[in-house]
Amino acid sequence: MKAPEIAKTAKPGQFLEIKVSETGEPFLRRPISIYNLDGDIVEFIFQVKGKGTKLLSEFEIGSKIDIMGPLGFGTFKVQEYNNVAIIGGGIGTYPLYELTKELKGKTNINVYLGFRDKNLVTCEKEFEKIGLNKLVITTDDGSYKEKGFAIDFMKKDIEEHKVDMIFACGPLPMLKAVRKYAIENNIPCQISLEERMGCGIGACLGCAVKVISGEEPRYGHVCKEGPVFNAQDVEI
Ligand SMILES: Cc1cc2nc3c(=O)[nH]c(=O)nc-3n(C[C@H](O)[C@H](O)[C@H](O)COP(=O)(O)OP(=O)(O)OC[C@H]3O[C@@H](n4cnc5c(N)ncnc54)[C@H](O)[C@@H]3O)c2cc1C
Ligand code: FES
Repeated sequence: MKAPEIAKTAKPGQFLEIKVSETGEPFLRRPISIYNLDGDIVEFIFQVKGKGTKLLSEFEIGSKIDIMGPLGFGTFKVQEYNNVAIIGGGIGTYPLYELTKELKGKTNINVYLGFRDKNLVTCEKEFEKIGLNKLVITTDDGSYKEKGFAIDFMKKDIEEHKVDMIFACGPLPMLKAVRKYAIENNIPCQISLEERMGCGIGACLGCAVKVISGEEPRYGHVCKEGPVFNAQDVEI
């Protein structure tokens, strides 16, 4: 998509709210992460899940598309680190690409991407081209590359070489496991939550998450305060 205003200001971890049809049906926009920024071009990648993403997949090249964004105040923090681990699963792979590109040159990067099976593996070549310290691809059923869960490969490497940040985005069970591991091992960790969303701008409470960083727990909006949070600051 050509969108210079978005491309100029977007940060890794931010997302777009996309109107998927001209007719106003479905009414709610669909949240999709920013995958890649390249000049005036903003790229996103999505899986067709239901009605909304099916309609989105039917847009013709050259047509206009109504998008709100970039959204989300909680973004991945890009700065100099010594070693980082980036872990993603399924569609959670997409927001990690721009992050990885922006971290390149600032730190040693190990990337761990997990998928259910061979048919769902995505963006392997694109990550390879960035030039990483290490890229591990896992499938739950062993139909491609390493068999097992990406987190187990990450843990094994961290035991040998410490990291000073873990970045994660993926299905809830993966995020829960990464968060638990990071907290137990005292490793700073940023997680991106892909909650179901309604409005995408903090108006509907459709994306509430328990925030535990203050004195009293409270509910925050993933769409506004996130989607990226410090793992220690939210209960998932
Ligand atoms: C911040 C954010 C970023 C996202 N980035 C991407 C992305 O880069 N690429 C991508 O393919 N998808 C992404 N998603 C998920 C995407 O928004 C949903 O798949 C989409 O809204 C489904 O709409 P639909 O009308 O096609 O399906 P619906 O008819 O609304 O639902 C179809 C099925 O998908 C499930 N579903 C809907 N929303 C979600 C969700 N958020 N997480 C898990 N399951 C869901 C439903 O439970 C149902 O089973 C993101 C979600 C969020 C919140
Ligand atoms: S989606 Fe409406 S408040 Fe977050």
